[in-house]
Amino acid sequence: MNIAIIGYGKMGHEIEKICRERGHTIVCTIDMNEEDKFESDEFKSAQVAIEFSSPDSALNNYRRAFAANVPVVSGTTGWLDNIDEVKQACERDGQTFFYASNFSLGVNILFAVNKYLANIMNDFTEYNVHIEETHHIHKLDAPSGTAITIAEGILDSVERKKHWKLDKQDNNDDLQINSYRKDEVPGIHTIKYESEVDTIELTHDAKSRKGFALGAVVAAEFTAGKKGFLGMEDLLPF
Ligand SMILES: NC(=O)c1ccc[n+]([C@@H]2O[C@H](COP(=O)([O-])OP(=O)(O)OC[C@H]3O[C@@H](n4cnc5c(N)ncnc54)[C@H](O)[C@@H]3O)[C@@H](O)[C@H]2O)c1
Repeated sequence: MNIAIIGYGKMGHEIEKICRERGHTIVCTIDMNEEDKFESDEFKSAQVAIEFSSPDSALNNYRRAFAANVPVVSGTTGWLDNIDEVKQACERDGQTFFYASNFSLGVNILFAVNKYLANIMNDFTEYNVHIEETHHIHKLDAPSGTAITIAEGILDSVERKKHWKLDKQDNNDDLQINSYRKDEVPGIHTIKYESEVDTIELTHDAKSRKGFALGAVVAAEFTAGKKGFLGMEDLLPF
């Protein structure tokens, strides 16, 4: 497949390596201040673009790729206030977009187990629940997109929690998310239910960025030739 990479940083480089291992051709890479490349024949020849940039630049990158009719697979977090525009571009203008707050298979298994556990824990009101996430010091957004997805999975089932809240719980109906930034940590997420007598804990600890990058390339292979707004629920069998 012909693949373009938008955002040529840590994830962009990891994705390039995996694309090559899987026999794909990288036709174009676009990093900051290289926006003119969206107009190039190389970019337009891509069957899909994989986008991992920054919260501030993601939306504009999607617009530029859509203008060239190139489908986008994106893992950039922190831009979701603008999700309606992207959904509209898919529904009204026939564009293709795949988004995941986390592309790792292991994290998506954690998402599924988190929902299952939340469903059980709704009945056990003696437990308080909170989320912890730790990432490297370069991360721009907090809480992580993954922590927000975990929080949504809990809020869907645990009726005593009404909304997530960063760093501190003011009321019992706040679902607290603690964000820590440390060294070069690729990403650790923990869900903790605590009662007076015990703790139930679920953790995903990424050993490197490889799992995220592999998931994004598998999603790109899945996305090519499809239409609409897609996500991991379309790709995974659970
Ligand atoms: N969904 C997932 O599975 C997942 C996994 C890891 C990281 N992420 C997210 O992906 C994003 C990138 O992470 P990273 O670790 O590669 O960061 P990074 O800082 O190493 O790389 C980002 C790159 O984007 C470039 N960039 C900035 N503005 C741009 C623009 N306007 N156009 C094109 N490129 C631009 C930067 O110069 C940089 O090279 C972050 O939002 C991060 O939270 C998501």
